[in-house]
This record gives sequence, C-alpha cells and structure tokens, in this order.
Amino acid sequence: MNDAKSEPAASFEMDDDVGVAVSHVRDADRRRPVVALILGSGLGHLADSVTDATVLKSSSLPGYPEATVAGHHGRLVIGMLEGKVVAIVQGRIHHYEGHDIRRITFPVRLVRGLGCSRLIVTNAAGGINPLYVPGTIMFIVDHINMAFQNPLAGALRDSGPRFTDMAEPYDLAWTDQAEAIALERGIPTRRGVYLWTSGPSYESKAEIRFFGRAGADAVGMSTVPEVLQARNLGMRVLGISSITNAAAGLNDSPLNHDEVLTAGIEMREELETLIRGIVRHCD
Ligand code: HPA
Repeated sequence: MNDAKSEPAASFEMDDDVGVAVSHVRDADRRRPVVALILGSGLGHLADSVTDATVLKSSSLPGYPEATVAGHHGRLVIGMLEGKVVAIVQGRIHHYEGHDIRRITFPVRLVRGLGCSRLIVTNAAGGINPLYVPGTIMFIVDHINMAFQNPLAGALRDSGPRFTDMAEPYDLAWTDQAEAIALERGIPTRRGVYLWTSGPSYESKAEIRFFGRAGADAVGMSTVPEVLQARNLGMRVLGISSITNAAAGLNDSPLNHDEVLTAGIEMREELETLIRGIVRHCD
C-alpha cells in the first residue's frame, strides 16, 4: 500500500515550461482528469473511444517534445471514458529519439499539472520469462533501470523531493484491484518485472540471458522514466505491458517494429476491456 506516500504534494509548483502548456490545455478544457493514460506502441486507439473529447496536438503545446515513432500520434486527449474524466497521452516520447532524458517526462509533468494524481502507463515489451509468451498482459510490479539514466537528475524542478523512494514504484493495491477486474472479465494476466533499455536497437541474445538472470520478465524501451517522474510528483502508478514478442534469441526470428505493432493490435480488445474496467473504478 502506498496511498499515504502517494498523496499529491500540498503546494504543487510547476516548472515554467510545463506551466505554459498547462495554461494552454486549461484554456481549451477546464475539466480535471482523475487519471492519465500513457499509451504504448500500437495501443493509442483507446483515445478514439473517449467521448466529449478535447483533442490537442502536442505540437500546439509549448515545450512538448515531438514524438517521431510510428504508432505514436502526438496528441493529448481529454474527455470521458467509463464516466470518468481522463487525459490520454497519445504519443510517447522515447530517449532514443534524441530527446534529453529530462524532456521525456514532459507529458507526466503536464498531466500532473492538470491535477491528475493517478497514472496508467502501458507499453509493448519483449517476453524474457518463457511463460510470458506473445499475447500476455503483464502488470508491472517492479522495474530495472538498465539505461542508467534518470529524468530526476539535474537542477531541482517541480515540487518533488531531491531523493525519491522507489521501493514500490507501481501501486500494489491498485494492481491487486486491476488484477481482480481482469479476473472478473476472464482476462488472464501475469505480474512481472520490466527492464528498461535505452534502445533503439533490440537486445543481443547475451543481454537477454543476462537480464533474465537479473530477474527481468520483460524488456522494453520506455515507461521507467515516466514512472520515476510520476513517483517524484507523488502520483499513483499502474503499469501494464503487452508482451508482443519473445525477446531476442528466444525464438528463431529477428525482431522488428512491425511485428510489435501487429501483436499490439491483436491484443487491443482485451486491453481495452481491462483498461475501461480499471478506469471505471478510479476516483
Ligand atoms: N525489446 C525491446 N523493446 C521492445 C521489445 C523487445 O523485444 N518488444 C517491444 N518493445
């Protein structure tokens, strides 16, 4: 349980650049989202289900870094999903696109500035644990930062502390609830440890063997920076990986991004049902 730890800071101050973007969003839509979703490769479709939506191109928001990867749209959508006001970040920014590590977390800082205290992060990931075959939905219960980069390094900004506890980055009470929702809907899920590599090359076979021995169940190129930032700002975090492929060396075929996107599309329906159920229970 980390409810107490997750209480938003009483006096939340924003960095100047995020503050301008927050004002822009507020000028367009004054609703306060209860939960924000950052959607991974090929999973952005959920934003199309949002009703009463305000759609803002990220290029229209001052300071928002440009998303350049296929499958990532570059939009912020605010609207209703399952009776809740949500903010959907469609267009994740990755370190390998050449952005400074501190800039990658701009969307997290933006949604926090809009008043969100909960964050759902999804991603596509390669399965390292042999039980985590393509098509598996994995709740992330811990992570390994193998990129050795940290968006919280550098001059202090926002309202977060200098040193942020990372003993429970993913809210286990929320994960328990999400798992129960999945069970109710007949959606099989697993729990696992996500390992972040900076990419953009996929891993070598030796790296995957090493990561597996280190305790990783899945590998990917995102999520951890956003989670570090969200925890620094006191947000509750739920992490979900779609296992889109077996990690390097675990089957015969070379990896490619199209395969990842296609597998993501095949998992859409289950994930959407799951995420809708989770959002319905957010307050
Ligand atoms: N490795 C790294 N990132 C990924 C993978 C993978 O196998 N699959 C989807 N994203």
